[in-house]
Amino acid sequence: MADNKGLRLSFVMLLVMALIIVLVLQGMSSLLAGRRLADLSDDAVLARIQPVGSLNTGAPIMAEAATAAPAAPAASAARTGEQVYNASCQACHATGAAGAPKLGDKAAWAPRIQQGMDTLMTHALKGFNAMPARGTCGNCSDQEIREAIEFMIDRSK
Ligand code: HEC
Repeated sequence: MADNKGLRLSFVMLLVMALIIVLVLQGMSSLLAGRRLADLSDDAVLARIQPVGSLNTGAPIMAEAATAAPAAPAASAARTGEQVYNASCQACHATGAAGAPKLGDKAAWAPRIQQGMDTLMTHALKGFNAMPARGTCGNCSDQEIREAIEFMIDRSK
């Protein structure tokens, strides 16, 4: 009887172990199957193996260059007063550096405006005390300087 019991016990244990092995194998195979079932289309594979970062080498830069190229000559052909002001004048005229009349400072601009545009132009083109000739914009045309002055005056009336 004791032998019989032991035999039955080891048979049950064997069954349990077999069951466990089967379950483990099943789990592994379903894992493998899951992987094999994954999307193998070119796009999906490329998306999975793509590097963490992507280099911006092609189209976007070309597109930027293409849109920037025509804009640059247009800007150098005739900058607006605001563009000239932002590029060359605001360093002093936005802060009041070296005693420059500040943009929007009506009290500072009023007596200067009264001198008339001709005087303002002469002072801006040739320099005036701490105001450098052409406001440091060496490649500004007279017209661009004039528009920059008009821009500042308009904002300071
Ligand atoms: C390095 C600083 C600086 C920059 C840059 C500068 N200015 Fe001036 N600007 C001054 C100073 C300082 C004065 C005041 C001079 C004074 O009255 O003694 C002045 C005065 C002026 C005046 C008034 C002149 C007058 O007769 O009262 C005009 C107009 C002017 N600047 C235009 C410009 C324009 C246009 C630019 C840019 C293209 C420019 N400035 C850039 C410093 C600067």
